[in-house]
Amino acid sequence: MQLVYGQEQLIIQTDQTTLVFTIGKDKKLYQSYLGARLNPADYAKIKDIRHEAYHPAGTDNLFEPAIQVLQADGNPSLDLRYQKHDVQQVDGHQQTIIELRDPQYPVKVNLILKAFPKESIITSSVTIENEGKKPVVLKQYASSMLHLDAPNYWLTQFHGDWAAEMRMDEVPLNSGIKIIDSKLGARADMYQSPVFYVAEDKPASETTGKVLAGTLAWTGNFRFAFEVDNHNSLRIISGINNYNSEWPLAAGEQFNTPAFIFTFSDQGKGQASRNLHDWARNYAVLDGKEPRLTLLNNWEATGMKFDQQKLVHLFDNGVTLGVDLFLLDDGWFGRKYPRDNDHTSLGDWQEDPKKLPDGLGYLAKAATDKGIKFGVWLEPEMVSPKSELYEKHPDWILKLPNRDEHYYRNQLVLDLTNPKVQDFVYDVVDKTLSIDQHIAYVKWDCNRMMTNTYSPYLKHEQSKVAVAYVQGLYKVLDRLRQKYPHLPMMLCSGGGGRTDYGGLKYFTEFWPSDNTDGLERIFIQWGYSNFFPANTIAAHITSWGKQPLKFRTDVAMMGKLGYDIEVGHMNEQELAFSKLAVATYKQLSPIIWQGDLYRLLNPYEQPQAALMYVAKQKNEAVVFQFDWNTERRNKPAYPVLLQGLDAKKQYRVEEVNLMPDSKSRVDEHGGAYSGDYLMKVGLHFNGQHYASSVVKISTGEGTTK
Ligand code: DGJ
Repeated sequence: MQLVYGQEQLIIQTDQTTLVFTIGKDKKLYQSYLGARLNPADYAKIKDIRHEAYHPAGTDNLFEPAIQVLQADGNPSLDLRYQKHDVQQVDGHQQTIIELRDPQYPVKVNLILKAFPKESIITSSVTIENEGKKPVVLKQYASSMLHLDAPNYWLTQFHGDWAAEMRMDEVPLNSGIKIIDSKLGARADMYQSPVFYVAEDKPASETTGKVLAGTLAWTGNFRFAFEVDNHNSLRIISGINNYNSEWPLAAGEQFNTPAFIFTFSDQGKGQASRNLHDWARNYAVLDGKEPRLTLLNNWEATGMKFDQQKLVHLFDNGVTLGVDLFLLDDGWFGRKYPRDNDHTSLGDWQEDPKKLPDGLGYLAKAATDKGIKFGVWLEPEMVSPKSELYEKHPDWILKLPNRDEHYYRNQLVLDLTNPKVQDFVYDVVDKTLSIDQHIAYVKWDCNRMMTNTYSPYLKHEQSKVAVAYVQGLYKVLDRLRQKYPHLPMMLCSGGGGRTDYGGLKYFTEFWPSDNTDGLERIFIQWGYSNFFPANTIAAHITSWGKQPLKFRTDVAMMGKLGYDIEVGHMNEQELAFSKLAVATYKQLSPIIWQGDLYRLLNPYEQPQAALMYVAKQKNEAVVFQFDWNTERRNKPAYPVLLQGLDAKKQYRVEEVNLMPDSKSRVDEHGGAYSGDYLMKVGLHFNGQHYASSVVKISTGEGTTK
């Protein structure tokens, strides 16, 4: 803290970013700077007190507020003045807690800022405490408010639908407010993802431009508000969506917001993504530095039509491919109402005796005996109207009284605000895992959002449902992680309806989309790669798409590879290729999962894409190149310039993952290049429609672990 002209400063700093707060003479907290890291000698020159850092509603605020409180006496305002702050070093980051208080009313607000210097990430969360004797109401309670000042702002948002997740759109922000939010409750980011970029001045490219990347760690309704005011300043307010979600705060109670996570890069989006990936692997994703399991899933191949014998046969396919795990998907449960289609059985998590007479335990053992691990699909938050659970516990279901039930995928959501339901959901997972110690993986699905929502448990406090649901979900997951700290789990939500760092604390990976068409998947994975590291992005090879198997396999290799395909339908050549692909992937995956990602050719700009992952020691890299140009005669293919290598190092270049008997598409020049050459002249890929290449680049100095 420094004294400047009677105003004190608080500095939050990472290796690439500085955030400066000033405490004004009026004791209000102002944000004075957010941008590229400053030289400490220059802090004192920053005196800007135009932007109140966490501006409350009701007093002098003229634009979108960060917080709105209805006081116990009906006064609809909050006034926040700096009291004190505390700085501590905690587990790889510096934590600053800034205490603000209302001078007239007993409300305390702590801003909690965590700065991760190496990864250049700052997280912002808030605790709001009612220190009075009567209840107050929180009407808005953002995790963060940030201010930018630039001539222009460009927002990149990510939106979509089932099978069309993470479409990128970049738009200028001009006067007024733009809101990106979700009101879906569960399966919350089915339409809008809780991630964004804001570029200053002009649109940022992968390698140039000033850009802020932000995301909310919350598996529920979120809201980002971007408001450009009369002075062309931008305020960005991020947090839980307050739509229909007033939170009554009883005397003595505290409300904790989730963390808003952000990074600022003055070298474009690529650097921002690498910051997020490093932070995610080090701090945010369960076992982010540990290896992942390759797998064979049966959903696309069998749907719900299978029996024990068929599954045991499929284990052999997994073994043939060489994957680590067989994942049994939907359709294995239901006694009174067997799960033969999606109209029944959710909630009745006992094996269907017709399909699995010897149960999951038998399957888990049979798989283990064949040398492959076994995992299982669950959708524990849901209930089918045709189920024993529905018959027994109608009061455990979110549904409005006096209204028709409203189904989505023929199902309803359980009331996770109710501790009894939390116990039930915990037991579903715990009991399933306890059937046999060899059950080694869970795919946790969630196939609907909330509609017609009413919690029988919350009674007259219905405005709490959306938030209390997520809190209930986290309670269950906390308990499960205490008992099963490292069990790999995939977060799935009817494709990619739940992809956020609130959930990934408990999960090792997520399912990005049911769309596994090789070409469309390039766009989807490209989108996710902006915010999530490759080891969290499950990517399966299926029969979707008309591209050759090689193309689809190369796409899946850019994430956490799996298969969801009738292996028996592959011809001899395809099978030989796939076996080799799994082995190749096992060699390359440490670089893909833990390396630095460089997005080289943007599929939104031409019918080509290229991405590369560079090991931290810069001794190895993997380049992926895809080409779907049908008009090669008119459009020459330019060489792909690599990035992130050591200019001085000599690298060997080798195309791997080739179909048997096919030739390399890359001009290998005897295989030896300097890093300088590869980054300035690049690699030339012979163009072809639906051609793809995986190229290994290595100094031969040893393998990345
Ligand atoms: C939706 C998921 O995205 C699919 O992968 C599959 O697990 C189905 N649910 C099963 O119902």
